[in-house]
Amino acid sequence: MKRLYKSVIAASVFSVLAAATASAGPVEDRKELMKTVVKSLKLSIKMVKGEMPYDAAAAAAAMQTIHEVPDKYIKLFPEGSDKHPETEASPRIWQDMKGFVEKAEDMKIASAKTRDAASQGLDAFKAALFGELVKTCKGCHEAYRIKKEK
Ligand code: HEC
Repeated sequence: MKRLYKSVIAASVFSVLAAATASAGPVEDRKELMKTVVKSLKLSIKMVKGEMPYDAAAAAAAMQTIHEVPDKYIKLFPEGSDKHPETEASPRIWQDMKGFVEKAEDMKIASAKTRDAASQGLDAFKAALFGELVKTCKGCHEAYRIKKEK
């Protein structure tokens, strides 16, 4: 009996620790991922605008970072997480998960094309960045994000 009691305590202590070390939740995680995307995009835009010297390797790395986001991103929309007070995710995501995943796929494809254009020089990178990648942000946000007034 005593032994059982001990293991119950051990189990509950463990779950408290696990909760404390885990990240805050899917809404926070998905916001964080979008911030990663923005950071890489900003760096790329600086190079394209000539505010920073063009560095093909850095440009490709920024696009690779964006390319790795969609697969993780689409897993962060569990049922009910549209009710989070801080979220800008539209309820349409849950009504049309397939369409949402397609938009994420668009970003994955466009970021790969832009990454591959980086080694062909600034002009090619710029054309892919604005012609392909940047469009995918709006493509998804228009349908699946509700921008809250701040
Ligand atoms: C597959 C859909 C999709 C794509 C593609 C996408 N976003 Fe988003 N984005 C969202 C959704 C949904 C939210 C709202 C998430 C939330 O608040 O829970 C969001 C939120 C954001 C935010 C606010 C983050 C915060 O701190 O609350 C920024 C900034 C952003 N996106 C930038 C971008 C940029 C830049 C791109 C393109 C390079 C992009 N997004 C591509 C779906 C997308």
